[in-house]
Amino acid sequence: MEHVTLNVPATAGGTIPLYLGYDLLETFLPSFLRQKDFSAVFIVTNETLAPLYGERLQERVENSHLLVVPDGERYKTLETAAWLYSRLLELGADRKSALVALGGGVIGDLTGFVAATFLRGLPLIQAPTSLLAMADASLGSKVGVDLPQGKNLVGAFKDAIAIVSDLSVLRTLPQREFKNGLAEILKAGMIGDAELFARLERGNVEPVEEILLPAIKVKANILAKDPFEHGERAYLNLGHTFGHAIEAVSQYQIPHGQAVAIGLRAAALLAERLGIASGEVRARVERTLLGLGLAGAVGGARAEALLQAMEYDKKRQRRRLRFVLIQEIGVPLIVSEVPTSLLLEVLEVICDQHSRSEWAEPESVRDA
Ligand SMILES: NC(=O)c1ccc[n+]([C@@H]2O[C@H](COP(=O)([O-])OP(=O)(O)OC[C@H]3O[C@@H](n4cnc5c(N)ncnc54)[C@H](O)[C@@H]3O)[C@@H](O)[C@H]2O)c1
Repeated sequence: MEHVTLNVPATAGGTIPLYLGYDLLETFLPSFLRQKDFSAVFIVTNETLAPLYGERLQERVENSHLLVVPDGERYKTLETAAWLYSRLLELGADRKSALVALGGGVIGDLTGFVAATFLRGLPLIQAPTSLLAMADASLGSKVGVDLPQGKNLVGAFKDAIAIVSDLSVLRTLPQREFKNGLAEILKAGMIGDAELFARLERGNVEPVEEILLPAIKVKANILAKDPFEHGERAYLNLGHTFGHAIEAVSQYQIPHGQAVAIGLRAAALLAERLGIASGEVRARVERTLLGLGLAGAVGGARAEALLQAMEYDKKRQRRRLRFVLIQEIGVPLIVSEVPTSLLLEVLEVICDQHSRSEWAEPESVRDA
């Protein structure tokens, strides 16, 4: 496989080319950048990825600079963006300069935000390096930073001019991060691709492009219909209403993907209890999460605390608590007005490490 090219929807209309293959950072990306004739190229990455991939990429791209920020969600802030603005000014960036986001979703969101705002907009190339960023964060054009009050509270829609996903870099991705990406890929199967789900159900995650490509297509199809999240784009939030509450209650100790995985189980449980989906659908979701080594329960949390976190999130966003659920694998729907008692029942199940018949706690939960 050299590489495949997909066209994913841009918010401004038209499409963004997404290149997916092996060793793309070695020759494909440098020659892509050369052809564009930018005045300069600024590669934004973090301290983990700079020695692994950033320095080598910078050597291969003419007139380029490497801007290295610390690693971690806690640096996805306005302060780091401000530091990047000042470095860009010092190094003489102009509107013909390009920014390359080389990293996971944190680098993608942060660099995208800087590209959307510096000099009212510079060309952006997303070069995602985590499975989660390849499957999810690098497409859809949402960029932004966190505030002390909450995640992703400041942001914009910024279309990249290209997305370059080099699968070779996944070799160095820690297993725990790989699993975070798997959760989002499983979500894609649940909302839009029963075959992808079945593949994961059988535990087939290799070769990775065979689960990544279908997951990207699910998101791209949804974006084509609803780029700005007026309707169908909300399907991508399956598992996330629960997931955000789980992340908040764990004080962000449980990573996003693991929280979403527990949220996927909660959504399946809720759908079953509301009579929307069968017990078989719920059981398939639980078995698949377990098979992939993804979490299904939150250790040490209380159901009431999770409910409170969900209510808080709802108030902050000034909207009703809505849940994306599934009727069947691949068939999502949105439900509001869920009785609190039912919700609490589901939250009790995901908080209880011991009350499961077909559930055993995977190693990864204890690690989290
Ligand atoms: N914009 C969107 O639509 C969107 C969607 C989903 C998530 N997000 C955002 O994405 C972020 C999460 O992204 P993430 O899960 O990629 O986290 P991340 O960017 O923090 O990356 C996870 C860890 O893996 C490391 N890493 C990444 N690629 C690696 C590689 N190839 N080899 C070795 N280490 C590697 C990173 O340095 C980091 O320590 C969150 O900030 C979230 O809000 C955005």
